[in-house]
Amino acid sequence: MGAGTGMAKRVLSVLLLAALVCNVAYAKFGRNSFPEGFIFGTGSASYQYEGAYKEGGKGPSVWDTFSHIPGKIKNNDTGDVADDLYHRYKEDVKLLKDMNMDSFRFSIAWTRILPNGSLSGGVNKEGVAFYNNLINEVIANGLKPFVTIFHWDTPQALESKYKGFLSENIIKDYVDFADVCFREFGDRVKFWTTFNEPWTYASQGYGTGAHAPGRCSPFISKSCTPGDSSREPYIVTHYILLAHAEAVKLYRAKYKPYQHGQIGLTAVSHWFVPNTDSPADVKAVKRSLDFMYGWFLDPIVHGEYPGTMRAYLGDRLPRFTPEEVSLVKGSYDFIGVNYYTTYSTSNKPPANGLELSYDGDIRANTSGFRDGMLVGEPEFVPIFFNSPKGLRELLLYTAREYNNPVIYVTENGIAEENSKSIPLKNALKDGHRIRFHSQHLQFVKHAIRNGVNVKGYFTWTFMDCFEWGDGYLDRFGLIFIDRLNGLKRYRKESSYWIENFLKRDKY
Ligand SMILES: *[C@@H]1O[C@H](CO)[C@@H](O)[C@H](O)[C@H]1NC(C)=O
Ligand SMILES: *[C@@H]1O[C@H](CO)[C@@H](O)[C@H](O)[C@H]1NC(C)=O
Ligand SMILES: *[C@@H]1O[C@H](CO)[C@@H](O)[C@H](O)[C@H]1NC(C)=O
Repeated sequence: MGAGTGMAKRVLSVLLLAALVCNVAYAKFGRNSFPEGFIFGTGSASYQYEGAYKEGGKGPSVWDTFSHIPGKIKNNDTGDVADDLYHRYKEDVKLLKDMNMDSFRFSIAWTRILPNGSLSGGVNKEGVAFYNNLINEVIANGLKPFVTIFHWDTPQALESKYKGFLSENIIKDYVDFADVCFREFGDRVKFWTTFNEPWTYASQGYGTGAHAPGRCSPFISKSCTPGDSSREPYIVTHYILLAHAEAVKLYRAKYKPYQHGQIGLTAVSHWFVPNTDSPADVKAVKRSLDFMYGWFLDPIVHGEYPGTMRAYLGDRLPRFTPEEVSLVKGSYDFIGVNYYTTYSTSNKPPANGLELSYDGDIRANTSGFRDGMLVGEPEFVPIFFNSPKGLRELLLYTAREYNNPVIYVTENGIAEENSKSIPLKNALKDGHRIRFHSQHLQFVKHAIRNGVNVKGYFTWTFMDCFEWGDGYLDRFGLIFIDRLNGLKRYRKESSYWIENFLKRDKY
């Protein structure tokens, strides 16, 4: 008996010691592992979430047009209803609060505010009221709105009138739209991004034609609206950058002095590693980064397109006038970075002169394999390979090449398949997502420790939603949407994990 008691005491003291050691030496990985004021959030976009595509006075966008063309989107899915956020935002903001989120990232549908794209067509009061209600609900639940002004839904009226972003007329209409947003919402919105992933808009909308407005050279695809994949992506990007810079200039002159918000641009980039150590492959890596990321960041940070692009593209790449250089250079308070995957990259010879395209111009061959080994775990979305380390590398590269800017990781996430044959119970078990975010966050933390100025991290995405060309096939959400039963929302396991990760210690 005496021996038993002694044993119990020893076990108890070992347990106490273990508990003490855990508390002191092994602080739990969570919110407190990041700097004070670091913002954790999750993201969305108007066309992917709102639905109500012709309700409340909203005008059509190029995505309404594109998704209604049979064969463009998997399963002929559309964003007509999407997640019906337009009607259910109160219930949804409650979910964000339940997950202990600091911020909600969403975009404003241009044609909800300006139904025909231009100020002359009138401001739609119902659209303004919707975003006022959403913003107020977000703030009332203790979250900060992190607002994207443009997430790809160009007004169809502007596409029809002057070919949208192929025309410099878009600059004035975009700035008018941004002006309405700053004026109506800027008293409460302190984080703005002008454009989300302009790379995707330009390369998919005008290079491959896989996204709205679906233009490409006939040699790329016969089913595109005939365009020019060797020039249009560069023209569109040029006007996007000028529209971005004009909007930032307007914000800084007219609103920032009393609204005190921050404004930036969100760029997406993969991380690239050379397939071999050959100088040709190493150069292919640099070209890949320049054509995807530097295309946007070099102008706004350094005032011109990357040298690799200028040297190769000649007159296919528009030039900035000296006035435009001073407009564009420095037009950001922070950079939004979206990251999904890493690729191995090898040198590829140029295409023949008759079949030039943005994709071919990169002269790089990318794949998920390096030396027969995967660069990351394959994911359900076959173009993505899970490589958390790549995010750290991209952040370090951004700090190094672009004057160590303030960075928000505005998207990072993984999908699983939407399939009727997966029982709900199993569909909510997303351990892969928990591992994905906790590993990527570890590498964000490494980057911060190495001096990168990262101030926030947003998961893509809040709820399963319309994933552009893939329709509803990919489930990227923390919240499951039951598309077969009235869009009922269910929390996946990752949503409980993140709730716990973000819990604030109470003393
Ligand atoms: C999409 O619509 C077109 C035209 O109606 C049809 O031919 C095609 O089979 C549809 N695709 C799917 C996956 O339903
Ligand atoms: C929008 O409507 C206004 C007023 O009717 C008109 O003047 C303008 O041309 C329209 N814009 C477009 C792009 O259709
Ligand atoms: C590109 O990579 C793929 C897969 O690694 C390979 O099959 C193909 O031959 C490569 N093409 C070129 C031009 O190097």
